[in-house]
Amino acid sequence: MTLTNRPDLPAEIARRRTFAIISHPDAGKTTLTEKFLLFGGAIQMAGQVRAKGEARRTRSDFMKMEQERGISVSASAMSFDYGKFRFNLVDTPGHSDFSEDTYRTITAVDAAIMVIDGAKGVESQTRKLFEVCRLRDLPILTFCNKMDRESRDTFEIIDEIQENLAIDVAPASWPIGMGRDFLGAYDLIHDRLEIMDRADRNRVAETIRISGIDDPKLAEHVPPHQLEKLREEIEMARELLPQFDRQSFLEGHLTPIWFGSAINSFGVRELMDGMAEYGPAPQPQTAAERQIAPEEPRVTGFVFKVQANMDPKHRDRVAFVRMASGHFERGMKLLHVRSRKQMAISNPVLFLAADRELAEEAWAGDIIGIPNHGQLRIGDALTEGEALRFTGIPSFAPELLQSVRATDPMKAKHLEKALMQFAEEGAAKVFKPQIGSGFIVGVVGVLQFEVLASRIELEYGIPVRFEGSQFTSARWLTGPQDKVEAFANVNKQHMATDHDGDLVYLTRLQWDIDRVTRDHPELRLTATKEMM
Ligand code: G4P
Repeated sequence: MTLTNRPDLPAEIARRRTFAIISHPDAGKTTLTEKFLLFGGAIQMAGQVRAKGEARRTRSDFMKMEQERGISVSASAMSFDYGKFRFNLVDTPGHSDFSEDTYRTITAVDAAIMVIDGAKGVESQTRKLFEVCRLRDLPILTFCNKMDRESRDTFEIIDEIQENLAIDVAPASWPIGMGRDFLGAYDLIHDRLEIMDRADRNRVAETIRISGIDDPKLAEHVPPHQLEKLREEIEMARELLPQFDRQSFLEGHLTPIWFGSAINSFGVRELMDGMAEYGPAPQPQTAAERQIAPEEPRVTGFVFKVQANMDPKHRDRVAFVRMASGHFERGMKLLHVRSRKQMAISNPVLFLAADRELAEEAWAGDIIGIPNHGQLRIGDALTEGEALRFTGIPSFAPELLQSVRATDPMKAKHLEKALMQFAEEGAAKVFKPQIGSGFIVGVVGVLQFEVLASRIELEYGIPVRFEGSQFTSARWLTGPQDKVEAFANVNKQHMATDHDGDLVYLTRLQWDIDRVTRDHPELRLTATKEMM
């Protein structure tokens, strides 16, 4: 098995695969993740991921809402070995309301697995997440799940992906039957037959070596009517569909597709092998100053997510850092570029699937968690001394604004603290208007208000009420200082500051923005602010 497409990479880096799984809710992401951990030896039994989560009460678990609605709102990272490889699986929130969080998660991975439901095909959230991956030209492997149920015709599914997502699809396997007749798949890359074990859901499929689709041995395992159809379809597929081409896949133009059933452990191994064999090793990262190659000996990394209150007993926060280069060892002192201060990283956490564990070392491509008291923010760089600024981790202007107040006015001060913490975590935008005493909270999806309200109550014991605000949108305001100040003075009722103290112009109508742009060409109103 090739370890990498980059022979110059040190072996430890070359064996790493850092990726996310994206899917529409219910397509099978959790089930697939669980099987990955099972085959990666990280858990002994399927079912442990959920059970464990409940016992451990991570942030996502103490949000009852998440359980009630069956959505996943918090991202976490898991590391495990698969054969010679180290997989770093970064979880993405599945709900569309959390696209900003997802976007940042995608900046930390080198590839993605797209899971679709064989009966439903490309769904709304599949498409959104796919578009986010496309912005970064990420290589994508596709897993068409639930083939043990009535599914769509294989050509139809492939066509739909090609048409809807404008990407070439190369079948890596071809399903044999579907629903009750689902037998297994023909592995088009290795010319093998994989037969599903219906008796044991956690057993890997039986592999039967054959020499091509015309091998008479096939007839011993596949009933005649299915075999005839399989031969026909494969002939058609080979004629009509693109062949797998690794380069094209790595450039994000082509996705290989596997057909399987996560719950029956079918097709999962082939998909994992696909990730190991063809997936990209850690890729260079872009900073404003230069490109950072993973094999550079000096350690660099960037924060792509901050999660507060993972343990409700301690007010700690964990900053998730993607290592961009070098070999990190516990206890290292790294420069926190934004504050220009040295930080001794003495208790980094590696998210081994079984539990959180201290990270003794990490290589480019790995994700480590650094507990801190709020110094580390999204977009921050850590280096061995160089003043780098990683780019591409934007902060989006929120699309929905509401004002928030504590039901108990005595708790207003505590509320401010809680809000600031969520703002730093990237869970919401918090604006302090220059007039008045309240706060305005901005989010990208309406469900986030509910999530925030429940977190503020659970984590800080402050019941709050969100109410409609007269404002509908926010823009960061920049320009020559005197001009900005003059403008802010005259437009006080529109002005606010974000949690970094940066000036924000709150708007009621698009017309407000057009007016400022027209009357004040020296000022800039932006919908994104690059975080650092
Ligand atoms: P998600 O994380 O993408 O939201 O999906 P999840 O894995 O939770 O799967 C959603 C539902 O689909 C679950 O059923 C799961 O058991 C089922 N499922 C996953 N893979 C397969 C498959 O290959 N075949 C079939 N037939 N079903 C599959 P549920 O009833 O919602 O939950 P549960 O009671 O089974 O846990």
